[in-house]
Amino acid sequence: MRYVLAPLAGFTDAAFRRLCFEGGADFAYTEMVSAAGLAHGSSPTRQLMETMPGEGALGCQIFGANESDVAYAAGAVPDRFSEINLNAGCPVRKVVKEGAGARLAEDPEKVYRLLRAMKGSTRLPVTLKTRLGPRPDRNLSLELLDAAERAGAAGVVFHARFTSQMHGGATHLDLLAEIAARAKVPVTGNGSVVDAKSAAAMAAAGVDAIMVGRAALADPFIFARLKGNEQPAESPAALCARHLGYLLDFRDRLAAAYPRDHVPPPDSFAAVKMHTHLFRYFNGRPGAAKLRARLNSVRTLAEIYDIIHAYV
Ligand SMILES: Cc1cc2nc3c(=O)[nH]c(=O)nc-3n(C[C@H](O)[C@H](O)[C@H](O)COP(=O)(O)O)c2cc1C
Repeated sequence: MRYVLAPLAGFTDAAFRRLCFEGGADFAYTEMVSAAGLAHGSSPTRQLMETMPGEGALGCQIFGANESDVAYAAGAVPDRFSEINLNAGCPVRKVVKEGAGARLAEDPEKVYRLLRAMKGSTRLPVTLKTRLGPRPDRNLSLELLDAAERAGAAGVVFHARFTSQMHGGATHLDLLAEIAARAKVPVTGNGSVVDAKSAAAMAAAGVDAIMVGRAALADPFIFARLKGNEQPAESPAALCARHLGYLLDFRDRLAAAYPRDHVPPPDSFAAVKMHTHLFRYFNGRPGAAKLRARLNSVRTLAEIYDIIHAYV
C-alpha cells in the first residue's frame, strides 16, 4: 500500500514534509496554494511551492474558482513536482466564499472545466481531491469521479466524508468502495486513518493508496508504522530538535530564493512555525498540559530550546 501525507494548510511545509518522508511517507502534498494569489504575483503564495532536499515525490495542491486562475497556477508549478492537485473539498469559509474548495464538490461540471483548464497549461499529471458531495442526501461522488475521468485526471483522492461533516463524524467506507470499484484511475482514500486497524478498513475498500492527515501531525513516523516497519520511537524532544533544524534550513532557503521579500528572521520564523507543531509532539505525555501553557507564550528560538531542554 502507498501512504500519502495529506495537504494540511499551516502545517505541511517543506520542513514537515521532509520529516514525514523520513517517517515513511511515499508521497506528500503542499499546503493548498491559492490560484488567484499566484495569478496576482503574491510572494507568500509562491513560497508555499518551495521545496527542500530530502523530500520525496511531491504534489502541489491548488485551490481556485475560475479557469483562468487555475490554468495560470498549473503553469506556474515548478518541474520539481510530479503532480498538480485541485482542491475540491476544503470547507473553510474563506475558500468556499470565493467558489472554491468544497463548493466544487456540489458542482461536478465545474470540476470538469477547472481540471481541463489546468491540464491545458501543464505537462504534469493533474489530480482531484474532493469529498463525497455536499451532504448525505446529495451524494455526488460518482459524478465527481466521472468529471475527473472525463477531464483526463490521472487520479482522484476522496475524503470519505460529506462537506456537511467538516472533519468529524463517521467516514463512509462503503461509498469509498463503490468509487474504487467504478474508477478507471487510481483512487486514494482519506479520512481518520490513525492506526493499523483504520488503515486496514480503508484498504479493504479497494483503494490504491491511503492518505493520512491529522494523525501525522502528532506522529510523522506513522507511515512507517502503518507499513509494519516499526521504528525505534524517537523522543518528542529529539523530534522537535530535528524538526527545528529542518525549519531553520528551510527558512534560509526561502531567504536566499526571495532576497527582495520579507522572510522573517530565524527566531520568529521558527517560533511561529514550531508553535503549531510542538504541543502535538508532547500530547499525552506527562507534563503536557504545563508545557502547552508555556508554549502559548513562545516568541523566540531560545525559548523553544529552553522548553525542549527543560522537558528533557
Ligand atoms: C488543519 C487542517 C488543514 C487542512 N488543509 C487542507 C488543505 O490545504 N487542502 C486540502 O485539500 N485539505 C486540507 N485539509 C483536509 C485534510 O487534507 C484531510 O482531508 C482531512 O484532515 C481528513 O483526513 P484525516 O482524518 O487523516 O486528517 C486540512 C485539514 C486540517 C485539519
